[in-house]
Amino acid sequence: MVRAKRETTGKSGRPREGGERKILVLHGPNLNLLGSREPEIYGRVTLANIHLAMESRARAAGVVIESFQSNSEGELINRIQGAATEGIEFIIINPAGYTHTSVALRDALAAVAIPFIEVHLSNIFSREPFRRHSYFSDLAVGVISGLGAEGYELALEHALRRFSGPRTVR
Ligand code: DQA
Repeated sequence: MVRAKRETTGKSGRPREGGERKILVLHGPNLNLLGSREPEIYGRVTLANIHLAMESRARAAGVVIESFQSNSEGELINRIQGAATEGIEFIIINPAGYTHTSVALRDALAAVAIPFIEVHLSNIFSREPFRRHSYFSDLAVGVISGLGAEGYELALEHALRRFSGPRTVR
């Protein structure tokens, strides 16, 4: 997504007092296929529709949402590292298949220390045993699993509620 640069961040990239507040939504591999991918498990809502719903809710609250999907671990890691200098205050992430494999993605989230919620469309605990382990859950503020696209909306509501309190950006 291309956004016009606005003078809302200081030299560090952190938001200035009164600057726009930003949430990053990250989607891992194969989530670009949502809508047609195993709809009996993941539903029929597309990623574009999920993004539109979140963007409209965030806009109503005066918050900026940025969404990024990649099938590549390195690109997701680069996006997380970038978030640290862009004033992103909260991350909502569905690491998809990397949930169960990626120490590197976990390390990136630990490195930037931006609070995050882990979202899964399906209930990863009611599926194959290998899906029950997540490399992210113990670092996450919370985990939402099994509520379909609604999980993203609930995660966003939580982030917005946090934003009504003091800023968490260091
Ligand atoms: C998923 C669950 C993962 O196990 C799977 O690899 C995905 C999607 C979910 O949203 O339910 O790709 O994260």
